[in-house]
Amino acid sequence: MLALIVDHSTAHGLRLGEIPPPKPVPHEALVRVVAVSVNFGDLQDGVAGAPDGTVPGWEAAGIVERAALDGSGPPIGTPVVSLALNGGWAELRAVDARTLGVVPNGADLGAVSTVPVAGVSALSALDRIGPLLGRRIAVTGATGGVGRFAVQLARLGGAEVIAVTGDPKLHGEALRALGADQVVAPGRLPDGLDGVVDTVGGPLLVEAFSALAGNGTLVAVGHVTEDPEVFPVGALLSRQGQDNRSLVTFFLLDSTNVGRGISWLAGKVSAGVIDPGIVWRGSWRDVDEVVEALRSRQLHGKAVLDAAAQ
Ligand SMILES: NC(=O)c1ccc[n+]([C@@H]2O[C@H](COP(=O)([O-])OP(=O)(O)OC[C@H]3O[C@@H](n4cnc5c(N)ncnc54)[C@H](OP(=O)(O)O)[C@@H]3O)[C@@H](O)[C@H]2O)c1
Repeated sequence: MLALIVDHSTAHGLRLGEIPPPKPVPHEALVRVVAVSVNFGDLQDGVAGAPDGTVPGWEAAGIVERAALDGSGPPIGTPVVSLALNGGWAELRAVDARTLGVVPNGADLGAVSTVPVAGVSALSALDRIGPLLGRRIAVTGATGGVGRFAVQLARLGGAEVIAVTGDPKLHGEALRALGADQVVAPGRLPDGLDGVVDTVGGPLLVEAFSALAGNGTLVAVGHVTEDPEVFPVGALLSRQGQDNRSLVTFFLLDSTNVGRGISWLAGKVSAGVIDPGIVWRGSWRDVDEVVEALRSRQLHGKAVLDAAAQ
């Protein structure tokens, strides 16, 4: 079968080549992959940090070719989205059947391939904050994969949403269209936040923590900036109106009910309720273009590779 394989002798660390198909164990389904989505983290951990011969790829959408032998998971022919630490960027993927999300029939598998990492991260991070109805929630890196989902989900949950983006002039209109009530630049966060989904880190995380209201929660999802977090003396002390703030870290693969989250989000994306913000789509033969755009921070949204396009 064809797969994108880590090869550090190439310019971007990947080549399309032939490898033997995977052999599923009894709790794994075999999925014929139709489309995959590429995340910044895929390149960091799955490509740059992986040995030659690895098949990277956290998320992939396709059709169940063989159901799990132990009877778990969906039957043959079901359209699904999968999430695992690697192995997604191949024609066939063996994956734990209990984590598969089921996709509505006829859905665009490219669009829903974006759901596991960006969507489930946003959903799980918002879960850590708690109820959203009538609460004031900020999302940093709002134009990014996780950020876009978080803005839309927070709005769906009934929150007042503050989108934080590096260039509000450029991205303000699009973020308001997704449901942001305010779009602000770093350095301009309003006070009184009940929750923050932070995907940027560095000085923005420090600013966001200081803007939390009492009992507010900041969920540190990611770190795209090179800058460190430096808290001024006393910044972590409790003070009137800001008691009991929490700063929590987050790891997607520790989320419970991943399959359920993927299925729910895939339904929302295919119904057009949530826009995953696909800004690049093409054949997996053109993966180098995506790697270049992601590494140079030119992409503000999701990149999808069609595995079947030759
Ligand atoms: N903990 C977990 O399990 C988990 C799960 C998923 C993702 N992550 C991490 O979360 C982070 C975001 O992931 P993603 O897929 O959303 O990334 P992404 O699509 O690349 O988006 C990141 C966003 O951050 C902003 N940004 C980019 N470069 C920046 C810089 N140098 N300084 C400040 N802001 C910058 C941009 O938004 P604006 O232009 O709007 O500012 C960009 O759209 C990554 O670090 C990723 O590894 C962690």
